[in-house]
Amino acid sequence: MAQKRFPVVTARNLSFAYDTAAVLQGVNFTAYAGEMIAVIGPNGGGKSTLIKLILGLIEPTQGSLHVLGKRPSVARGEIGYVPQYTHFDTRFPISVREVVLTGCTRPVFGRHTKADKAAAAGALERVGLSDRALDSFAELSGGQQQRVLIARALVSDPSILLLDEPTANVDAFMSDRFLELVVNLATDRTVFFVTHDTGYVSEESDRVFCINRSLVEHPVAALRQDLVHATYSQPVRKVLHNKHIDTTHMTL
Ligand SMILES: Nc1ncnc2c1ncn2[C@@H]1O[C@H](COP(=O)(O)OP(=O)(O)O)[C@@H](O)[C@H]1O
Ligand SMILES: [Mg+2]
Repeated sequence: MAQKRFPVVTARNLSFAYDTAAVLQGVNFTAYAGEMIAVIGPNGGGKSTLIKLILGLIEPTQGSLHVLGKRPSVARGEIGYVPQYTHFDTRFPISVREVVLTGCTRPVFGRHTKADKAAAAGALERVGLSDRALDSFAELSGGQQQRVLIARALVSDPSILLLDEPTANVDAFMSDRFLELVVNLATDRTVFFVTHDTGYVSEESDRVFCINRSLVEHPVAALRQDLVHATYSQPVRKVLHNKHIDTTHMTL
């Protein structure tokens, strides 16, 4: 599809260090419109750092990074983000709909407009939770809460969605349907899907970026156990996507 080749995020010789040691070094890639990109790699490899660079929360130490042709901080309104750890104080009685509305960029005089409310309803429908809009967020399961946070990221209809380890709270049974949702979201936006569970990657992703200080792109078909081993040096649970889940722990 010609439309797929529209460049959305471009990194050229991108490096980043919090202090002296490089966390990311010499990273090059172009992400195109409508791609679902799985971002894998070991803990501390720099995945969340890359996400924060795309969001413009931190600036490259070297090289360049453009989002929709702009500086990341300028393009931030086009990006939906689900951070790796999101904490809502569960003693505070906030409804599902209110959580989603916190994703609206400009509440007018502290009140949400009709358009905001319609967008929130649309986002909840997208994640399959319309019927829970008025329920307390705290009552939902971990997987449902995660879907609400995705709805919050979707409410401004961003062209880029950054999901940093969204599967951490999702139990194995839910995970296949969760992946289906994420794949559907990538039909009309670019999704960066960070996960340390390579089982989520599979053939559903268009591309696989492996980040361990540098970025190495792997063809999706090449995501075999030898790569998993090279990346993690430990056994990894494999999730199959033909609608059943194999929970055997493989010895590599
Ligand atoms: N705010 C920070 N200040 C200093 N070092 C950090 C900070 N955040 C992360 N790091 C370090 O940067 C490296 C990459 O972290 P991160 O991007 O969170 O990795 P990942 O998401 O792949 O687990 C790690 O060594 C981590 O300790
Ligand atoms: Mg991380």
